[in-house]
Amino acid sequence: MPEPIRVLVTGAAGQIAYSVLLSIAKGDVFGKDQPLILLLLDITPMMTALQGVVMELEDCATAPLKEVIATDQEEVAFKDLDVAILVGSMPRREGMERKDLLKANVKIFKSQGAALDKYAKKSVKVIVVGNPANTNCLTASRSAPSIPKSNFSCLTRLDHNRAKAQIAQKLKLGCNDVKNVIIWGNHSSTQYPDVTHAKVKVHGKELGVYEAIKDDCYLKGEFITTVQQRGAAVIKARKLSSAMSASKAICDHVQDIWFGTPEGEFVSMGVISDGNSYGIPEDLLYSFPVTIKNKNWSFVEGLPIDDFSREKMDLTAKELMEEKETAFEFLASV
Ligand SMILES: NC(=O)c1ccc[n+]([C@@H]2O[C@H](COP(=O)([O-])OP(=O)(O)OC[C@H]3O[C@@H](n4cnc5c(N)ncnc54)[C@H](O)[C@@H]3O)[C@@H](O)[C@H]2O)c1
Repeated sequence: MPEPIRVLVTGAAGQIAYSVLLSIAKGDVFGKDQPLILLLLDITPMMTALQGVVMELEDCATAPLKEVIATDQEEVAFKDLDVAILVGSMPRREGMERKDLLKANVKIFKSQGAALDKYAKKSVKVIVVGNPANTNCLTASRSAPSIPKSNFSCLTRLDHNRAKAQIAQKLKLGCNDVKNVIIWGNHSSTQYPDVTHAKVKVHGKELGVYEAIKDDCYLKGEFITTVQQRGAAVIKARKLSSAMSASKAICDHVQDIWFGTPEGEFVSMGVISDGNSYGIPEDLLYSFPVTIKNKNWSFVEGLPIDDFSREKMDLTAKELMEEKETAFEFLASV
């Protein structure tokens, strides 16, 4: 039996955690034979609710779960971590300015970055989900200088899965018959869902998506806006943000980090730009196509970028540069 790994989920009393914790505890992410110690962090007023989550997790009686530790203390939550899934963040309240939201989150992710630096294993893999996910992830990495930058990523897999599902529905295919869609940039409505390099399997034959759908107007218009605005559409209908699909996307993302991506396939992840890939400025936390092997990701290099894509990729980069600038101003002062 391997040694248990220590996995933290923050925002553990929230709605995404309620769904993702069961998948992790069942072994859907790290495998059925990998023992787990789950650490659950939330803020002090949520501790009673969190005790309820702990009881339910125990009552699930899942084989991989060896221990659950629920806490409001960072020094307990971040100790000796192998994986940190940072879901908890400050939500936007009515009348709240975007800058105030950014500032509140800089404070949280600066503190959690410093806790990672101080208490977690240096090999820890950090996945940021709480919004604004890209900039929160950059803040955490900046605040954890002893942990390699490449260990940090943010979730754009939900957008990636949404793009995949839209294409599959359009062609009446299964989602597994669609691969290599890309989400470029920010996990916000400026993201660019790109299917220029995506492939579909129709009657056993692999085709490009543009060739299979034969409707450039749809792919350059309605498809993009549907994916960009899907989160808002779910909130409008459910009066709550996406949680089941966000949880599934977290599982896909972390499972790929742990076990690697299939041969010939790439996935979208927010990672820190090296300044040499696709003309995106250095040190921006931007969603790129990546492949993963031996728990390390690499950029998918050399995809040709046309003028339509270039414009959309630069627009979302601009938004991220502005967010970064504001966040780093706050970082010095909070
Ligand atoms: N990147 C993505 O694709 C994606 C998708 C969906 C949701 N999200 C984001 O994920 C976040 C969580 O969503 P949710 O629906 O679970 O929200 P939620 O409000 O149900 O739960 C959030 C939890 O975080 C906790 N929290 C707040 N500050 C914390 C802190 N400093 N430390 C620990 N816990 C803290 C809250 O007390 C709450 O229990 C939101 O920011 C949401 O916008 C991101």
